Amino acid sequence: MKTIFVCQQCGGTSPKWLGRCPDCQAWNTLVEEKTAPARDSRAPTSSSRPQRLPQVAVTKEDRRRCGIGEFDQVLGGGIVAGSFILIGGDPGIGKSTLLLQAVSRLSEQGSALYVTAEESARQVKLRADRLGVSPRDVFLLAETSLEAILERVAELKPAFLVIDSIQTIFTAALDSAPGSVSQVRECASRLMQVAKGDGIPTFLVGHVTKDGAIAGPRMLEHMVDTVLYFEGDPGHPYRILRAVKNRFGSTNEIGVFQMKDRGLAEVSNPSELFLSERPDGAAGSAVVPALEGSRPILVELQALVSTTSFGTPRRTTMGFDHNRVSLLVAVLDKKVGLSLPAQDIFLNVAGGVRLDEPAVDLGVMAALASSHLNRAIPQRTIVFGEVGLAGEVRAVSHPDLRVKEAARLGFNRCILPAGNLKNLEAPPGLRLMGVKSAEEMLEDIF
Ligand code: TYD
Ligand code: MG
Repeated sequence: MKTIFVCQQCGGTSPKWLGRCPDCQAWNTLVEEKTAPARDSRAPTSSSRPQRLPQVAVTKEDRRRCGIGEFDQVLGGGIVAGSFILIGGDPGIGKSTLLLQAVSRLSEQGSALYVTAEESARQVKLRADRLGVSPRDVFLLAETSLEAILERVAELKPAFLVIDSIQTIFTAALDSAPGSVSQVRECASRLMQVAKGDGIPTFLVGHVTKDGAIAGPRMLEHMVDTVLYFEGDPGHPYRILRAVKNRFGSTNEIGVFQMKDRGLAEVSNPSELFLSERPDGAAGSAVVPALEGSRPILVELQALVSTTSFGTPRRTTMGFDHNRVSLLVAVLDKKVGLSLPAQDIFLNVAGGVRLDEPAVDLGVMAALASSHLNRAIPQRTIVFGEVGLAGEVRAVSHPDLRVKEAARLGFNRCILPAGNLKNLEAPPGLRLMGVKSAEEMLEDIF
């Protein structure tokens, strides 16, 4: 049998060992693996024939909803028969909990097989007890061998299948270790044949590496129909389920959950939750309408600017890109004349949410200025806009959704890019104030 060296990060191959992957430039990621036995190259005669496009028969997709609204929504309105879904996330974020809750509900529509390759059946049972669910038609299988799993699937013919996780199962056809690129690829492709062939919707749990990608080759993401990421800060109860790829729906969907002592609860009104602990009249706090997918969510930014007691000032940011903050501080200095040289700067997004939208720039600036000047931003004022290097405020996408959400939560004043005012109707009770520069924003906001 031939051996090749496979990069465990990108899946690139090389005929000989190298210290650095020639494809992704990662160090020490090449591992020797035996190549899979060649499949019969004489393809079976297939009955598929080319068809004229207009003649392709379209049957309406049959979607199954599990009843957890946030979950169904992220999947594009329910689960399509035969879909192959990958759920990635950090360890301990709640993937197993989410899937156990989902299949418990789904099993009312047909039996579900939950393959637990990481935990024992007893551990899963204890979790189910904690969640307060005891679905009759969820079958647990503590198994790591792919062949055994496929046999049980053929016997049981479940309506739903969960593999928790794809990195811990292995096929005897390859002798590389579970979790290696070839194992993950082979196991996933054999499971996919079953999912597609028998129309069984299959959920794969995938681990995330330290740089945030699903471990194993990128090709796992290419193979599946849907890739969902379950994110959140372990120190906070909020979790966001995000579709990053979906062949059966929009990738603009997110679901918000809260981890409670009895499992994950849906949060259908995230803005309200994220603002619920906002201090009254405190300097350094600004509210921005961030867009998560197609959904506007109001979040609170908190800044603390204080005179540094050591030589080099500290810049600590949580939930926001560090470099972006440095840039905004530089713009404040150069273009607005608000200089923060010998100041420690701390910036935090409340609730452990991560924001990576430029639309929150203006909010970051407002929070920094508010803390530095020790002046509170009026409680019912909201601010958004992208800031350029010259201190100019640029228009952002979907201002309509943002202002609507602000009005719904009782804000009465919104500072936004002047460029966004065109064709924008002010919702009742909300006064729109367009600004062209960061300086102008600071004149208006207090
Ligand atoms: P888990 O689903 O095991 O995470 P993953 O499969 O992504 O590794 O969730 C583990 C965490 O969730 C654990 O720290 C405990 C917490 N948790 C709760 O807070 N409440 C609950 O009801 C459950 C089941 C778990
Ligand atoms: Mg788990």
